[in-house]
Amino acid sequence: MRDSTIHDCNLILLPKINSAAGNITSINENIEIPFDIQRVYYLYDVPSGESRGGHAHYELEQYIIAGSGSFDVILDDGKNKKTVTLNRPNIALHIVPGLWRELDNFSSGSICMVLASLEYNENDYIRNYEAYLKIKK
Ligand code: TYD
Repeated sequence: MRDSTIHDCNLILLPKINSAAGNITSINENIEIPFDIQRVYYLYDVPSGESRGGHAHYELEQYIIAGSGSFDVILDDGKNKKTVTLNRPNIALHIVPGLWRELDNFSSGSICMVLASLEYNENDYIRNYEAYLKIKK
């Protein structure tokens, strides 16, 4: 996780089955997502102006999808930062372990879906930015 950078994170296009009645996107473990999905969680009812995240993970790998609406993901590897706007339900952002992330600019009614490689474990979090920078040095 020490060596991971923002350049290791990219967007993937998920399949979309389109009809006059709307769209379907399905996500398969070990097909579109290259790991066993141990957990799915989603953020919703995020008040306007609030931000989420503000941490890094030692081991956890994630794909983040805007299931509805839009929001920004700010990725930071201690040297470089990039902001990725998610606003399509068939686009997923891969976040590798060891990156600081913040999510903000949530549109009203937006849903941030997260596919995670591990169950929730507080010991996998780095919640202090100064501590994070020391680990990445
Ligand atoms: P956190 O991951 O810090 O939220 P965010 O990055 O979206 O701001 O989690 C917030 C709280 O929710 C924290 O007390 C841990 C708890 N939580 C779980 O119990 N299980 C989970 O799967 C997640 C993601 C969080």
